[in-house]
Amino acid sequence: MSGQRWKSDELSVGQTLEATFWKNPNEDSKFPLRATHLEGRRAPKVVLSGDTKILPGVPCLIRITAIHKPERTDHGHIEAEYVGPAPFKIEGVYLDPLVSKKLQVALESGLNILLDGPQGCGKTVLARSIASSLGMEFVFFNCGAVVEATDFFATIQVRASSSGAPVTDFVKTDILLALEQAAQNPEQRYLVFLDELNRCQESARNALMPALDSTRKVFHPIENRFIEIPDNVLFIAAVNRGRAFSATFGIDAAQLDRFVPVQMTYLPPEEEVKLLVHRHPAVSRATIEHLVAVADKVRSSPDLEATLSVRATEEACIFLAHPLFEGDPKQQIPEVLKTSFCGRFSGRWDDVGTDAGAVWTVVTTTLRERGIKVRAED
Ligand SMILES: Nc1ncnc2c1ncn2[C@@H]1O[C@H](COP(=O)(O)OP(=O)(O)OP(=O)(O)O)[C@@H](O)[C@H]1O
Ligand SMILES: [Mg+2]
Repeated sequence: MSGQRWKSDELSVGQTLEATFWKNPNEDSKFPLRATHLEGRRAPKVVLSGDTKILPGVPCLIRITAIHKPERTDHGHIEAEYVGPAPFKIEGVYLDPLVSKKLQVALESGLNILLDGPQGCGKTVLARSIASSLGMEFVFFNCGAVVEATDFFATIQVRASSSGAPVTDFVKTDILLALEQAAQNPEQRYLVFLDELNRCQESARNALMPALDSTRKVFHPIENRFIEIPDNVLFIAAVNRGRAFSATFGIDAAQLDRFVPVQMTYLPPEEEVKLLVHRHPAVSRATIEHLVAVADKVRSSPDLEATLSVRATEEACIFLAHPLFEGDPKQQIPEVLKTSFCGRFSGRWDDVGTDAGAVWTVVTTTLRERGIKVRAED
């Protein structure tokens, strides 16, 4: 459907459709904005608008106000006016409807976002898909190795000079390169993703946050001066606190000035099933439902401070789809979960005193409730 071109007679004045406008390359035109697609399908003529409520590059809903020369395929244009923001959708990622609303408001208003959620709940895929669906340049930065605030912008590298003596070089990080590029290309929007912000030194983090939000100035450690953060750069930071660590990580509320904190959790079981069925067609839906039911029990077990990534259910699917694990999935599931689920926790699956053992108890109880026999010696 999406590749098909609209036929002229399918479109009429008054119709409301989704479109993304860009600056009209024809500068003599009285319409400063132009779109080529409606609802993702190529329009039969260019779509033009002079409505100032339309922002270039941001998907929106428009109403057709006129179709000029409908009979001609080589001439004419469609005129449109703004109706409202486009419904927010991000391909391939499940988004909680409430989280989605908050993200939409934040992104439209140019506010930075702090994604907060347990391991493997989709923070990184979400940030990547936001960038690609909004046509933003995605800049990935892992904060795990940051000790001082300047490490966000440059790293020191030591190399041998031609005489063999060591020379130190400042190397710009992808963040600094993006800030410099953004100043040169005001038309392009950049999304800098600060992954695992909780893992960098607290002092570095605390120095960075107000710079990103209120002062919008950062120190360029190579040029020894402050540079502006251009308005076309947006930051999304991700923190992963897990259930066990919720008390140890905090960002001062005042420093969160323009960061919108968005809480994420694991996708609901039925959505996780859909995702895995789509990604692993070789595994039966029934098997995937068993895996997700067990994962859901582990995640919500009050006795376990357990987070279990969607990577774990994916990994189990990969094993179960492999010829080496052929045979009755009901027999294979418990074996695979010893590694894919229990193996992510400390201790051993067969040692009840450990976390892995406690997870194994949840695995066996849930599978038995679902009519899957787990052998006694397991
Ligand atoms: N809501 C979701 N929609 C689509 N895929 C998801 C979702 N949640 C998790 N996944 C899948 O789970 C895997 C892990 O997701 P991702 O790396 O985004 O998690 P994360 O929250 O960034 O984890 P971490 O805290 O370890 O960095 C990926 O394969 C991703 O595709
Ligand atoms: Mg991540």
